[in-house]
Amino acid sequence: MQLTGEHKAILNGDRGKLLQEAMLNLIKCAEALGTDTLIPVTSAHTSFLTVDHLARCFSPRCIELSSNDLDSFEKLLLNCKSPVKTTINPGIIDVDKWKEMGSDEDSYIEVKKVITTANHCNILSTFSCIPYITDNIPMFGESCAWSETSAVLYANSFIGARTNRESYETSLYSSLLGLTAKYGMHIDENRYGTDLVEVKCDINNEVDWGVLGYFIGKSIGIGVPVITGLRIPTVEEAKQMAASVNVPGGLSMMHIVGVTPEAPSLEVAFSENKPRRTFVFDEEAKFKIYQELTHNPYGDVDMVFLGCPHNTLYEIKEICDLLNSRHVANNVKCWVMTTSSIRSIAERLGYSKILKESGVELLADGCLNMYYSYGGHDRPSLNRVVTNSVKQAFSVHRAFGSNTVLVDVKDCIKIAVNGGYYDESKYGY
Ligand code: F3S
Repeated sequence: MQLTGEHKAILNGDRGKLLQEAMLNLIKCAEALGTDTLIPVTSAHTSFLTVDHLARCFSPRCIELSSNDLDSFEKLLLNCKSPVKTTINPGIIDVDKWKEMGSDEDSYIEVKKVITTANHCNILSTFSCIPYITDNIPMFGESCAWSETSAVLYANSFIGARTNRESYETSLYSSLLGLTAKYGMHIDENRYGTDLVEVKCDINNEVDWGVLGYFIGKSIGIGVPVITGLRIPTVEEAKQMAASVNVPGGLSMMHIVGVTPEAPSLEVAFSENKPRRTFVFDEEAKFKIYQELTHNPYGDVDMVFLGCPHNTLYEIKEICDLLNSRHVANNVKCWVMTTSSIRSIAERLGYSKILKESGVELLADGCLNMYYSYGGHDRPSLNRVVTNSVKQAFSVHRAFGSNTVLVDVKDCIKIAVNGGYYDESKYGY
C-alpha cells in the first residue's frame, strides 16, 4: 500500500485509536479491492443512526455492546474531527415530530445524542437522502465517498462526481480520514458504458422514470448502462430514476445520452467498449414492472406515502396544489417526507399549514423503512400503502408484507382524499 508519512502516523496510532482502526480497515478494503492507492475525498455521506450503530464499525464487533463499550467508544469518537464535508442519511425518527409519528422517547433521546456527537465530529446531521440537492452538492469530477445507493447513482450519472457505493462503515472511515480506496468509479475506464438500453415508449410521469430505473437495474445487474431515447428529466424525475435502479440492481453509474455530463453522445459514453447486451424498454416491459410492484391494490388504504427519496420544495408545493383545500379521508394517514432544511422553508412559505389543514403530516429526518424498523412502536398500519416511489413500493412489501399501489403523485392525492383505491379499470391488474 502506498502511504504518505501522515498515513503511516495514523496507522501507527499517533492520531488516536479510532483513526488507527479506520485506517487499518480502509487499507484492508483497498487491498481486497485490488488497489494499493488511497485518494483524498472532499465529501462523504454516511449513516449516523445511533451511537450503538456507529460503534459496530469498530472493535469489539459484538452483537450486544455493553454500556461500558458504548461509553468508551463515544469518548474516542468525540476526539475525532472529520476533515471533509460530511452529511448523513435519514435516521430513525423525525426529531421535531416524533410523537406525531408514533415514536417513543427512548428513540428521541438516542437521536439527540447522536446529533450532539455528529456536531463534535464536524459532521452535519442533515438526515437526508438527497444530499446532492440540499447540503452536500458535489462538483463535476469531485471525489466523494458516499453510502446511499440512490445518491451515489445520482452523483455519478447526473453530476459527474465520482463515488463508489460505499457501505456505512467505509463511508464513515472516509469521513474521518478524508480518504478512500482508488477503485471502481474513481478510475476513468470503469466509467465507460457496458450495455445499451433503448427506451421505446412514453415516459409520462415520475413513476415511469422510477419504473424505467427498476427495469435497468434488473436487466443489467452489474455494469454501466447507456440509455437512449430519453429527454432531459427534471431533478425530481432523475431522483426517482436513480433511487429505483438499485432496488434490483448493483449499479454505481449509468449514462443517459445527452444528459449525463460524460455522455454527450453514444460513442463518447462507450469509448472503446462494445455493448455487451442490448435491452429494449417498451410499453410491455413497463407494464410488467408496474404489475411486479403492485400487490392486491384494490380496497381501503392505510397509508399514502410521498417523499422517497425526500421530497423537494417544488414537490411539496405540488402536493399542496393537488390537495386544493381538500382533506384526506379519515381512514388514511398521508405522510410527506422531506429534509428538515426543506421543511423550514415549507413552513415559511405556508405549505406546512396547508398540509396540516388537509390532514397531511409533513415529516423530516427519516424514511418509512427506518421509522418502522427502528424508531418506536406505536405506528399506523401499513396494510395497504400507496406511493409514487418504486423503491418504497418494493421495500414496504418486502419488509412489512404490505399491499401496494404504485401511482403518480396526482393519483396518490386522489386516493388519499377518497380513502381507497377502487379504480380497477386504470391499469387492468
Ligand atoms: Fe431515502 Fe429511505 Fe427512500 S433513505 S431513498 S426515503 S428508502
